[in-house]
Parts: sequence; structure tokens; C-alpha cells
Amino acid sequence: MTTTHIDVPRVRRLGRAPATETLSPAERMGTDELRALQLERLQWTLQHAYLNVPFYRRKFDEAGVHPDDCRELADLAKFPFTTKQDLRENYPYGMFAVPRDRVRRIHASSGTTGTPTVVGYTEDDLDVWANTVARSIRAAGGRPGDTIHVAYGYGLFTGGLGAHYGAEQLGCTVVPASGGMTARQVQLITDLKPEIIMVTPSYMLTLLDEFERQGIDPRTTSLRVGIFGAEPWTEQMRREIEDRLNLDAVDIYGLSEVMGPGVAQECVETKDGLHVWEDHFYPEIVDPLDDVVLSDGDTGELVFTSLTKQAMPVIRYRTRDLTALRPGTARPAFRRMDKVTGRSDDMIILRGVNVFPTQIEEIVLATEGLAPHFQLRLTRKDRMDHLTVVVEADVHTPTDRRGVAAAEIAARVKDGVGVSVGVEIVDPETLERSVGKLKRVVDQRPTT
Ligand code: DLL
Repeated sequence: MTTTHIDVPRVRRLGRAPATETLSPAERMGTDELRALQLERLQWTLQHAYLNVPFYRRKFDEAGVHPDDCRELADLAKFPFTTKQDLRENYPYGMFAVPRDRVRRIHASSGTTGTPTVVGYTEDDLDVWANTVARSIRAAGGRPGDTIHVAYGYGLFTGGLGAHYGAEQLGCTVVPASGGMTARQVQLITDLKPEIIMVTPSYMLTLLDEFERQGIDPRTTSLRVGIFGAEPWTEQMRREIEDRLNLDAVDIYGLSEVMGPGVAQECVETKDGLHVWEDHFYPEIVDPLDDVVLSDGDTGELVFTSLTKQAMPVIRYRTRDLTALRPGTARPAFRRMDKVTGRSDDMIILRGVNVFPTQIEEIVLATEGLAPHFQLRLTRKDRMDHLTVVVEADVHTPTDRRGVAAAEIAARVKDGVGVSVGVEIVDPETLERSVGKLKRVVDQRPTT
């Protein structure tokens, strides 16, 4: 099939997030204005994808829909979904909608679970990304002139570079620490005195331990705000980190297929879920079982359609992340999404009961005498799956408290989640530490 590349950009641009104290023009929009802009951009995106990506043309044709059928936002529901598998099958460049010489940057997923997926950005896409991250940092409490320690990994992962250019766009000083070399990170934070840190919550815990190991009270650092994301974390984890570091911990969400970090951001003044930057990313919640679009307030699978992406538009991309949409608060026109507490991929089905690692996190962090480090070990015995929660004891915990803590966790999991699990309390500093995204579940079941 031949495709004609339609010229880009054609979307109405609203200007950059200025390096000032004020909100960007987009953030001050009213709901009606936002909806009109979304429709205009959605119609453009559908045309762009249909004309320039054979995959979308074939999928739309098979479904009997054409971009002209989109006359209002609700019409998006007529269009087919896109899955990670679709991206894999079109690896590496099959989903790109612009000639290769318009692509300025490539990122990729790690590919640990199969073929990697590759994403591409034009210069305008990179600009939009930097703007949405700048907006996110500002919503988190960052201001021009702040110093930001970026400990998300740099490289093919979108965390490091995504945070980096957004921070520069806002007018901040960036310390591009990336992940790893934990002792040096602590030294950099101590010496360079950043106000803000951007890092996964699990690596923040690793850094916290390192502060204490070096005899530095983490509450005395210069850090004022932590912008944590790239993996699920709970309200209990927020409290743990805020208490131990004396900072505001806020949530940032994103995924490489849609852009990277900065698709949605929690505002520091409300800490009540993440405002989706809907002028660039249109969210829907669908029932993962029958694919029906759910109403705001209902929990289901988050689905995104990009509204301005040039290099790799995504139409109704199934994130597998479970959440609900709610009305905007601190940014009234932008709907919020609940904290993503689970991803359908991470869900453990144990004797018919769905278990999310975040449910266990809440229980472990609420149990006295334990460190916030735990692992979920899945084994199989007599054709039955077993889950063992392996938790580190706190350094100050007397040995006799360990048995009590184990019994408390088992009882709370049984009560709250509805399933029996084993609990093992291990010595402090025995579980592997995260330097980026944490692998919470260790699956030791036989593969056959
Ligand atoms: O993790 C992008 C990112 C980097 C977001 C830095 C925030 C900060 P991926 O590697 O493609 O991209 O992984 C995306 O990570 O579908 C979620 O399952 C999970 N995830 C990302 N942010 C959050 C969050 C980056 N705040 C996948 N809460 C997503 C829960 C998150 N899960």
C-alpha cells in the first residue's frame, strides 16, 4: 500500500510553558474550550494516522470506520483499539507516520518480556513533551531557578531524558544523575543542594537507606519536593517517604508508547490524583473484559489517544493500567486519574483471587517493626500456587517482634485481600534494592 505523508505540523499550537511563575495558556483553558480543541486535534490525528500509517488504515478499513466519521469526541469509541502486541508486530518503524528524516529521537522499552517496542519523536513532539513535563514539574511545586536532581535512568528509557528536557524547559538547573552509584547520588544531593528530586519511589527508598548509612539525617537535606513515578506506589508509601525526607511527594505518570513521563501529574497543593494533560493526550476508561467505554468515576483500563503527536500517533492505546477518571480540581478543565495502583499485567491470580502488589504494600507499610522493603515470591506445590510475602525487618526490631509482625501481615492479607499467604521476615538489608523500576514479584513457578 502506498502512503502519502501529509505535511506536519497542522495542529494549532498554544505556546510554550513560559519560564515564569504563571500557568501556561492551555492550563487556564475552560472545559468547553478544551473540548473544542480536543475535537479539532482528534480529527487531525485520525486523518494523520489513516493517511500515513498502513497499520491504522487497514484497521480502520476492517472496522468500517473513516476519520471523517469522527464528528464529536464520543465518536472515538467507533475506532479500533491499539495494543502493545500491535506495536511489537510493527517493530521497529511500522507505526511511524512521518518520513524517517523527520524523526529526531528514538526511545524503546526494555524488551525483557519479548520484542522491544520502539517510539519516535519529531522536533515538535520533543517540544510538546518538554512542555508537558515542564508543566508537570511546575504543578509539583517546581519553579524556574530550582535545581532538580534527576535519578530516573537516562537512555532508551524515557524517564531520564524526559524529565531532563522538561526541567530545562521550565528554567531549572538539572543534575543528570541517572540511576545507580547510590553513594555518589547522596553526595551530589548533599553538596549541590537540589530543591527537587525526580526518581522512582523504590529507588528513593534505596537512597534513603544510603543517607542513613552515611550518617546523614534525610530530613535535613535541601529537598523540598519529590516527583515520583514509573511504577505503582501507595498513599502509605507517600507518607513513609514524606515523613522520612520532610518533603512533598507527588505522583507523575506516563508511558513511552504515549510519550514518556508527563502524561499526567499530581498537583502539590491538592495531592488528589493526577491531572491528565488532556490537550495532548485524550483518556478513556474501558471495561477490560468487554471493551465498553465506562463513565467518569468507574474503574477500568486506561486507554489513550494522542492528540498532537506527529512521529507516532497512537489511537486508543490500551495501557493495561487500572484507574478511574474524575473531575479536575487544581486544574479545573483537566480530568484527574486516580493513582494507578495496579496494572493488569502485575495482577497475581491466586486460587481465583486477584492480588495486586500495591494491596500488599499498604499492609506491609502499616505493620510495625518492618522496613519498607518486600518481595512477593510465587511458587507452586502440589499443583497449587503459593504466595510468600518476604519482608525485611527494621534494624531496630527485636527478634521476637518478627513472628508477631508475620502473623499480623498474614491475617491482614486474609481479611483485606481474601487469600492466605505465607510471610517470611528476613534480616535488614538482605533483599535486592531497586535502582530504577522495582521488580516486586519473583515468579519461581515452573514454566511448564
Ligand atoms: O515509566 C515513563 C515514566 C518515567 C513515567 C518516569 C513517570 C516517571 P514506561 O517504561 O513505558 O514509561 O512504563 C510505563 O509504567 O504503563 C505504568 O504501568 C507504569 N507507571 C508509570 N508511571 C506510573 C505511576 C515510564 N505514576 C508504565 N504510577 C505505565 C503507577 C506508573 N504506575
